[in-house]
Amino acid sequence: MTNKNTINSLPLPPGDFGLPLIGESIDFLRDPNFTKKRQEKYGSVFKTHIFGQPTIVAIGADANKYIFTNENKYFTNNWPKSTRKLLGEGSLAVQIGTEHQKRRKILAQAFQPRALSSYISTIEANTYKYFERWEKLGNFTWYPEIKNYTLDIACKLLVGIDSASQTQIGNSYKAWVDGLFSLGIKLPWTTFGKAWESRKILLQEIEKIIQERIKSNNYQSDALSLLIQAEDEEGNRLSIEELKDQILTLIFAGHETLTSAILCFCLLVAQHPQVRAAIRQEQEELGLDMPITLENLKQMTYLEQVLKETLRLIPPVGGGFRQVLETCEFNGYKMPQGWSILYQVGYTHKDIDIYPQPERFDPERFNLTKLEDKPKAFSFVPFGGGLRECIGKEFAKLEIKIFAALLVRNYQWELIPQQNLDLVTFPSPHPKEGLKVNFQKLPKNELIHN
Ligand code: HEM
Repeated sequence: MTNKNTINSLPLPPGDFGLPLIGESIDFLRDPNFTKKRQEKYGSVFKTHIFGQPTIVAIGADANKYIFTNENKYFTNNWPKSTRKLLGEGSLAVQIGTEHQKRRKILAQAFQPRALSSYISTIEANTYKYFERWEKLGNFTWYPEIKNYTLDIACKLLVGIDSASQTQIGNSYKAWVDGLFSLGIKLPWTTFGKAWESRKILLQEIEKIIQERIKSNNYQSDALSLLIQAEDEEGNRLSIEELKDQILTLIFAGHETLTSAILCFCLLVAQHPQVRAAIRQEQEELGLDMPITLENLKQMTYLEQVLKETLRLIPPVGGGFRQVLETCEFNGYKMPQGWSILYQVGYTHKDIDIYPQPERFDPERFNLTKLEDKPKAFSFVPFGGGLRECIGKEFAKLEIKIFAALLVRNYQWELIPQQNLDLVTFPSPHPKEGLKVNFQKLPKNELIHN
């Protein structure tokens, strides 16, 4: 349907705008079953009013396809105000249109296979460093530890600094993250106000690192060196101001989501010993001392299935916002210009027609040798899709896979009984009490690292 008059005569999706001004925002933020309840009542496309905007929630592979393939035509990026302000105008996640596309080309250089390959030794070294710490601790809560682990790796690979979790960056980072999805009121005592102050400190720290790098002219093999020197097709380089925003975005995006993915892998595998045994068996068959290289990681196909199933069942990013640029039609409903659209990752992954018994953790779903049909397009979208698909996707997969392979090769871990494993969703999903574990090195004859 292309005729504008016809589109305008179409109905809006069913749904309720809730209370004046605040709409259904409170329910949206507080009720973990907000979407489920409305999907049951209205179907997979419904309207609501959240964060001050009339919003259409569109669930499922077809909706994802429509949204992802019409980026910049019918839809554009639309993060809440607090997120946009704290990420900064120079952030890839905030940029739109041609500027966004040009910047993506530059930033993508930090995630090419050659760059990824050069990151492996740093990931491995940090992983063993943390394993040794956890072994000494024995019993501990994993969430804050994995946060530090992923932050250290992100900062080392992006800007070349060691143990960032123990520096000013680590200190200021938490208050900054807390403000990302807040009311956006800048006062000294508000969450946003504190986050704004932290942003200033973080940018100062990042600027120091950038200036030192430029002054020393010593370009190492990290993303910062690549980005300082990278040029677009017209030979333009990133300004220092933009570089700071881009680096801050990459540190955030490259660490918060990975923390959730790694932690949920540890949780699900601990709850399914047969899966752990199968991962271990694959590692043994491939050789427990097989060096970690991009090529060798590709051979870990069962581990790949487990990681996919982890990202299906507990996706670190639950969905994404867009704004309608031009009134358009989906599933017989009008999507009016200026409205917000919310696509859903988690609910797409629970589609019973695609994933039978969707709540079950079953890595066999992704066994490509058994699949009769090609998976439906846009039915597995942990990294989003289209022009805004996660730029760090391959890096993320690399880090999770290295962590998982080395963990299963060398260690065993058990969940401490009687802890609350309910998932909290902010800033990304993690068990309420942070996942308390007992962590032990495997008996000597089963080890490869010592
Ligand atoms: C398991 C880990 C990760 C998951 C699940 C994930 C998920 C996502 C998703 C769903 C989006 C799309 C948001 C949208 O549609 O607006 C996205 C965008 C993005 N991700 Fe990731 N991400 C992960 C790791 C990373 C890493 C490691 C980095 C960088 C080091 C990164 C950097 C970004 C950036 C910069 C964007 C914005 C892209 C754009 O707007 O063009 N992410 N990510």
